[in-house]
Amino acid sequence: MATAKLRLNGNEVEFTPGDTILQVAWRNGVKVPTLCYLKDCTPTGACRMCLVEVTGARTLVASCAMPAAQGMEVFTDTEKVHRARRLAIELLLSSGEHNCLLCEANGECKLQEYAYEYGVSAGRFEGTAKHYPIEDSNPLIIRDFSKCILCGRCVQACNEVQVNRAIGFGYRGAEAKIITTGDRPYDQSDCVFCGQCVQVCPTGALTEKKAKGLGRPWETKKIRTTCPYCGVGCQMWLHVKGNRIIKVTAVEEAQPNRGRLCVKGRFGYDFIHSPERLTTPLIKENGEFREASWDEALDLVANRFMEIKEKHGPDSIAGVSCARSTNEDSYQMQKLFRAVIGTNNIDHCART
Ligand code: FES
Repeated sequence: MATAKLRLNGNEVEFTPGDTILQVAWRNGVKVPTLCYLKDCTPTGACRMCLVEVTGARTLVASCAMPAAQGMEVFTDTEKVHRARRLAIELLLSSGEHNCLLCEANGECKLQEYAYEYGVSAGRFEGTAKHYPIEDSNPLIIRDFSKCILCGRCVQACNEVQVNRAIGFGYRGAEAKIITTGDRPYDQSDCVFCGQCVQVCPTGALTEKKAKGLGRPWETKKIRTTCPYCGVGCQMWLHVKGNRIIKVTAVEEAQPNRGRLCVKGRFGYDFIHSPERLTTPLIKENGEFREASWDEALDLVANRFMEIKEKHGPDSIAGVSCARSTNEDSYQMQKLFRAVIGTNNIDHCART
């Protein structure tokens, strides 16, 4: 409940004590750029993109980390603010090897987007760009530290969102880097490959290995669907190019997962395009399988159930529903057994 007021770009707005200036600005439709800010996580104030001017403050302040205060006067779009943001972008560009043309994140990179928006090109500073070899020894995630801006979003996603605690900041100064315990590759670390770090990375430092070279963001369409792996019902985007899923990301603002996915939901979609996938029912005759239509297969199963029920009674039949089914499928399974077959012999393999 809003109980306090401040002035935002000359307009009086309400806020709830505890809100940051960034939250107040966004809620009131004022655009403030961010790179390191990650919703619902501890603000780090690392990137300096969200700087704003507060009347009476000694310096520009990071709006993502500064609590709003009663009577405050905030300006988000002054020349001083823009100059500071341009400088922050220039410094970030000079601290890495950002070759947008060849980058897998081209078209999705926030640093690229802001550099374009603020008219910044690299080159004014010599920088401290350090060349790191690309780490792709695991089958799912490519790490390119030369494109890392040390915003820390991956660390927060790992530690505060998924609570896996597999990565953190390592080394100091120009050597600073995001590391696993012992600075080992992901596949030799505590990483569980949920891919949350990839989802929140604002540059091309972390990318999906299976999606490499398969399509640019503007060539793909995003189709929202529900994860098929369990009954939680996580919401996901399928990134589809030419009828082929090239990657999966979580829907940020949707319940129940609110931007999270597990390793299966995010990376386990290969089966959809597998040539070994069964696409028609199979009926076994004389020890051999033959392809059948759904009508034929369902008639056969229904007739056999009726025969068994007539001969031995409904309790001679039992059903075990799959833990990887959706809640809706499991519900229908128990309905089929209780209401149609007439038995309470229905269970779920998660109990075994
Ligand atoms: Fe505020 Fe990075 S978003 S400092």
